[in-house]
Amino acid sequence: MSCLKLTKEEQKMFDGELGEAAAQSMEILVALGKIYGAGKMIPITSSQVSGVSFKTIGEAGLEYLEDLAAKGAKVKVPTFLNPAGMDREQWKEMRIPEDFARKQIAVLDAYAKMGIMKTCTCAPYFIGIRPKRGEHVAWAESSAVAFANSVLGARTNREGGPSALAAAICGVTPYYGLHKDAERVAKLVVDVSGCELRGVADFGALGWAVGKMAKDKYPAFIGIKSANEPQLKVLGASMAATGSVPLFFVEKITPEWNVADGAERVVFGKDDLKKARKEIDSGQKPQLVTIGCPHASIGEIKQVAEMVAKRKPTCEFWVCTARKIKEEADKLGYGRAIESAGGRIVADTCMVVCPLERMGYTITGTDSGKAAVYLPNLCKQMVAFGDLEDILYR
Ligand code: F3S
Repeated sequence: MSCLKLTKEEQKMFDGELGEAAAQSMEILVALGKIYGAGKMIPITSSQVSGVSFKTIGEAGLEYLEDLAAKGAKVKVPTFLNPAGMDREQWKEMRIPEDFARKQIAVLDAYAKMGIMKTCTCAPYFIGIRPKRGEHVAWAESSAVAFANSVLGARTNREGGPSALAAAICGVTPYYGLHKDAERVAKLVVDVSGCELRGVADFGALGWAVGKMAKDKYPAFIGIKSANEPQLKVLGASMAATGSVPLFFVEKITPEWNVADGAERVVFGKDDLKKARKEIDSGQKPQLVTIGCPHASIGEIKQVAEMVAKRKPTCEFWVCTARKIKEEADKLGYGRAIESAGGRIVADTCMVVCPLERMGYTITGTDSGKAAVYLPNLCKQMVAFGDLEDILYR
């Protein structure tokens, strides 16, 4: 039985003294707190809201947002958006259907009315939004949640779109789950010391396989000699896609390391990696290669620009990223290099949340274990999985 205590201010919100939108939002938070046995609410420093693409929220979601905005909802903490269903500037060139674009603009306008920044990225940590270790936040996108908890050491549960928005409007979230020290414990140790991880696709395949075996356990990796942020980003995103993993540790690399006594131990060797990669890849030649799941950093875009300047890919390709990073990439000349090689830097959206299935593609390439999970289910795509050196030139 939960005995959730509210502060005076929280109680006022709940009782409707601070408006209908705050009351509606506090009701969501209180209901969640009761389900999970929270004793109190805890202030948050930021919120990341998912449910931005019209493709995923549909008419019902748009109506809900417009209604909340009309009731005067305003966010209390810095709040930013997950990717939308299209690039706000290039949607026509990208063959996004016009009916879809109109609805997508309405969704973004409703969020903006509430004071939410139209960042439209799943990698806010690459545009300077980096909560510190121990900071409490309410983030919703599964890969961003994994990155915030694991790589930055911040604290967030895996929020749904409505609960992240409610937390943003009230400035608090129920104190349970990954906000508490006692919950941040790994119960699965994965030994990868016999397996050399060479690049993003290897980390993606590792995450894809470990997410499946982790189920509700948080994994702790031993034997990873080095890993940069783009590799950790893909590892976390892929585990979040196959296993809903919101937290992982990597020995000597992530800021926290807390393994339960008697944790289950598994060995993941080079044959397991080979098998996972083979299982994910259809072996087909892609019509479109999509890079940046989660959204690419400026360093990743530089690498792609250098690679395609040396040798032109044999298919169309997109690099998905935040608008702020696209602007920086354009200034540095990477945009021009990518366009000259037949590609495009795509901002505000990604291969999964845009209506790819309505744009004439059926076989899409990726080096991300997460995109490999969602492309068949949400976009009716066959997946070509592998290193960029492979899929761009198949
Ligand atoms: Fe981001 Fe889209 Fe992948 S939201 S994590 S690029 S599926």
